[in-house]
Amino acid sequence: MDDATLMRLPKAELHLHIEGTLEPEMAFTLAHRNGVTLPYADVDELRRAHAFTDLPDFLDLYYACMAVLRTEEDFADLASAYLRTAATQGVRHAEIFFDPQAHTSRGVPLSAVITGLRRGLDAASAGTGTHAELIACLLRDRPVAEAHATLDALEPYVGTVIGVGLDSAEVGYPPGQFAEVFTRAREAGLHVVAHAGEEGPPSYIWEALDVLGVERVDHGIRCMEDTALVRRLAADRTPLTACPLSNVRLRAVDDLREHPLPAMLEAGLMVTLNSDDPAYFGGYVADTYREVRDALGIDDATLIGLARNSFRASFIDDQRAQALLAAVDDPR
Ligand code: ADE
Ligand code: ZN
Repeated sequence: MDDATLMRLPKAELHLHIEGTLEPEMAFTLAHRNGVTLPYADVDELRRAHAFTDLPDFLDLYYACMAVLRTEEDFADLASAYLRTAATQGVRHAEIFFDPQAHTSRGVPLSAVITGLRRGLDAASAGTGTHAELIACLLRDRPVAEAHATLDALEPYVGTVIGVGLDSAEVGYPPGQFAEVFTRAREAGLHVVAHAGEEGPPSYIWEALDVLGVERVDHGIRCMEDTALVRRLAADRTPLTACPLSNVRLRAVDDLREHPLPAMLEAGLMVTLNSDDPAYFGGYVADTYREVRDALGIDDATLIGLARNSFRASFIDDQRAQALLAAVDDPR
């Protein structure tokens, strides 16, 4: 499939951290607007710092850059910029993660974060036709009590926020600790997802499924080390939101040519392609499709299948999902 067709191919983005769309240029614009000093002299120096050894190393820089996000307007600008870019990459629907604790712990009110993000998404949606929903991620390397308090604070926003996820540093923070928080989230009518098996072992994926009851696993690539787990995920058609460019940048995978995506598809897993933190990992979602095509020799039918999976794995209602699936077969 040629690049232009791949860009147009309708897709859903299901694994995208809005804070991970903070491009260096916008980071410095917001730093200036808010009188915040970043620990980098300029855009070039910040871009050069985008060389990560692993997930915790990336997260240090990711959280440091968030210091520039202070007001409702900042969150609106970030969200609208992302959705406009995503629309140019064929994204028709996005389910967007944000990290409430990373902002409330700095004194930014949750209302400014959610109202700003929603305002920015609505503005970009009106111009592009790309729809977006919000999923609040709990930080697994912070205390469980804080996750409960965050869920309490999210209660008035149920509906504006459609789900809860689990992210941040993975190794040493098994999902099972958050069993009660996730039970409460499910009882509140929220969708539930969790990062598992990105750097952490297959046992974290089992826990995400059996203890947290997740509907999708974010990343999940280490499932390939456990044949019983692969059988379970394939039998249940549990979506795995893979992020191959992220896996290479965070060195979970040495080289894109060695990514387990082909083996995952061969095993019958329900995989989707996503960009995770595109401002840091070298590409948005169509860029991801293109790089995967080139590095792994993924054929047209498989690329189309991945786009179809993205709508099937999404939380959109059936009628809209059917319309978007029809658009995959007839892109304009
Ligand atoms: N937060 C932002 N990006 C993340 C990732 N790739 N894994 C875990 N937490 C994250
Ligand atoms: Zn992620």
